Amino acid sequence: MAIRKIVEIGNPTLRKKSKPVVDFDDSLGELLDDMKQTMIETNGVGISAVQVGVLRRAFIIETDTDKYLEVINPVILETRGKTCDKEGCLSIPGFYTKVERPQYVKIEAQDRHGKKYQYEAEDYLAKAVCHENDHLNGVLFVDYTKEGREYKKKKGVE
Ligand code: CO
Repeated sequence: MAIRKIVEIGNPTLRKKSKPVVDFDDSLGELLDDMKQTMIETNGVGISAVQVGVLRRAFIIETDTDKYLEVINPVILETRGKTCDKEGCLSIPGFYTKVERPQYVKIEAQDRHGKKYQYEAEDYLAKAVCHENDHLNGVLFVDYTKEGREYKKKKGVE
């Protein structure tokens, strides 16, 4: 396992749409292991492959203390409700703002072996799933709010 460099806002890679994972092979396992280690090292609670420069539809979230969920090729099946809580991102260090997200989300995804599963998340974890899923489409949480748009303007980044 290795710690990989986090791609930060301003790098155009972050704005690209990630492609589906098609090979559930050793290199995917290595990527996921590295993502997890990188997330732990940087005190993150979620990380997507694009944040380590790999444009594939995969992310990891910490679902409980030292418990991690690997999410590959996710599809959002259902969302319900609304919450609005503070959010941050490893790719946007030092900036936090409240973002409205669904209170509940249900996804279908694959594990590192390609096996399909469904996962339901609420509140904080629903936020994490939506935030990471956005990364796969080149969307960042700063796109959603006035404070976020001001941040981008001030920093001169997209
Ligand atoms: Co993020």
